[in-house]
Amino acid sequence: MKKIIIANWKCNPIKKNQAEKLFSSVKRGVTNIKKIELVICPPFVYLSEIASSSNIKLGAQDCFWKDQGAFTGEISAKMLKDLKCKYVIIGHSERRFHFKETKEMINQKIKAVLSNGMIPILCIDQINQIKENLSVINGKKMKKIIIAYEPLFAIGTGNSCSIKQAKKTNESIKGILGQDSVVLYGGSVSSKNAKDYIFKANFSGLLVGSASLNASEFVEIVKSIS
Ligand code: 13P
Repeated sequence: MKKIIIANWKCNPIKKNQAEKLFSSVKRGVTNIKKIELVICPPFVYLSEIASSSNIKLGAQDCFWKDQGAFTGEISAKMLKDLKCKYVIIGHSERRFHFKETKEMINQKIKAVLSNGMIPILCIDQINQIKENLSVINGKKMKKIIIAYEPLFAIGTGNSCSIKQAKKTNESIKGILGQDSVVLYGGSVSSKNAKDYIFKANFSGLLVGSASLNASEFVEIVKSIS
């Protein structure tokens, strides 16, 4: 199975031309990369500028569960589908913390992503969140969900999780969801540690924050896996 590398740009960059430049530099750098599913999740406002291409897929960083209506400021899963998003990140710890997202909200969002034919990437930092955040999802649909293990201490700190701890958590997640489940690692991933999470801790892919804002560093990460 292809390894999945996802760039989560978070609330960056500030200008549209910077986003276009970052995207085109990454695209140029990965032209010959094979056997990797490469995904970029820019802020909503850049999704249309960054059309998905054969070697880079498009993802969103969040969504709203209702299709449309009087919900000022929200972006629905249906709208993201129309923009050709293939993936949607749900329940990132920054959303849980800054925007007080609850398990009920996360459940609704996951359901909306699935019913619009996209793939949810559920971010967790504790094992118990799997059951809590997927309580309304039934057996068959569970297989479509990607889990991203992102320990809080490792996000944006430069203190990546030890390979030993990451591997142990990966095994615990697979113990719950099945050996064939797709589990990613995220938290201070760099071109130096990326391959260890894949080849030593057996993750199916990576969710990259800060390092994805530097095109050459991100391309190095991709190359170290391919
Ligand atoms: P950093 O790679 O900046 O630690 O961020 C990780 C993350 O939150 C990805 O979703």
